[in-house]
Amino acid sequence: MSATRSNSAPTADDPGFGLYVHWPFCLAKCPYCDFNSHVRSSVDHERWRAALLREIDHYAGDTGGRRLTSIFFGGGTPSLMPPATVAAVIERAARHWRFAEDVEITLEANPTSVEASKFAGFHAAGVNRVSLGVQALNDADLRFLGRQHSAVEAKAAVDIARRQFGRYTFDLIYARPTQTIDAWRAELAEALALAGDHLSVYQLTIEPETVFGAAYRRGELPVADEDTAATLFEVTQDLLADAGLPAYEISNHARAGAESRHNLTYWRYGDYVGIGPGAHGRITVGGGKFATRQHRAPEAWLAAVERTGHATQQRDSVEPEERFAEMLMMGLRTTDGVRRSRVITETGRTIEAAVDSNRLDRMIGGGFLVLDDEGLRATAAGRQRLNAVLGGLLT
Ligand SMILES: C[S@@+](CC[C@H](N)C(=O)[O-])C[C@H]1O[C@@H](n2cnc3c(N)ncnc32)[C@H](O)[C@@H]1O
Ligand code: SF4
Repeated sequence: MSATRSNSAPTADDPGFGLYVHWPFCLAKCPYCDFNSHVRSSVDHERWRAALLREIDHYAGDTGGRRLTSIFFGGGTPSLMPPATVAAVIERAARHWRFAEDVEITLEANPTSVEASKFAGFHAAGVNRVSLGVQALNDADLRFLGRQHSAVEAKAAVDIARRQFGRYTFDLIYARPTQTIDAWRAELAEALALAGDHLSVYQLTIEPETVFGAAYRRGELPVADEDTAATLFEVTQDLLADAGLPAYEISNHARAGAESRHNLTYWRYGDYVGIGPGAHGRITVGGGKFATRQHRAPEAWLAAVERTGHATQQRDSVEPEERFAEMLMMGLRTTDGVRRSRVITETGRTIEAAVDSNRLDRMIGGGFLVLDDEGLRATAAGRQRLNAVLGGLLT
């Protein structure tokens, strides 16, 4: 990598600047997933590589020269990318932006043996953190979730990741139909034995436009009731905190200093460039903040980039009031919450001036929010029902 490097881990006051790269292809579509992911019998890797590089060039026009603190390859299944494409993207980013000394470069990987065999190539390309979609540690649940890997394969992939990369993390999905609290406790204990210093634990969401969504509407998919889901959440919080991996966000747990820097940039409302199909971005240009979104369908995205150099479908100015709402939506997910100084920088107003005091008092009185010298935070109870808290505060 030829970039000039500078030391600059993001802080609560400086949220950093990231690059998100979306790879939209998967080997199979999981029945729960409504991410922008598609199954294709073949992908023209030369064209895709060239197009990703062109879209980076395009966004560098507005943001080039800034200090880059993270790159995140998400999907879809970025571990299906050729390592040469990952290397080319990192190389091109290094031409346009100054890499922070400790720049975090994460790649999402599915834990099949084929993909694990590519880890050395990704490492050589510059990736220094992997995030594995393990989802469950028993084969029956992995089959139910439509996964292409077994529990043994997943554990082997975690092992290879541990040896290959400085940092690794994996995802689990809980509140699966029929999952008991005891079974989840046992599975979490097993996960902790495999975990490094970061773990993501998501409650199963039934998304309407998925196979699970349709099964649910037909009454064929039992889901965890609210009480069971709440208990599973609490058990997760306690068990992981006791093991030294406290929550720093609703679904994310880490030892201090091991948090995902890229995700912290989103949650602290920092800027990020989003390239690839359906990618979102938030960039500050000439004092204005812009929300960007790329064409979602892979073929439409590719055609637009090849025609015009980018596939931006939307680029909207984000006005101060909307910025405040976005800051709360992102920031209240984290245990740190929303900093006073950041609200003033982004909106020109204090928290008290930006929010209705009666609504705020109600949420504080209910034990869902805390406001102090540092800023506004959600309590654990508030984070557990964040949508309701935001609804009560903002509408
Ligand atoms: C972009 S996806 C996964 C990356 C990779 N393709 C994989 O599946 O391993 C990111 C994570 O979101 C979580 N996820 C996706 N859909 C979900 C849903 N409906 N409910 C809960 N978690 C979900 C999964 O844990 C998944 O690993
Ligand atoms: S969960 Fe991952 S592998 Fe499954 S369809 Fe979604 S993005 Fe693809």
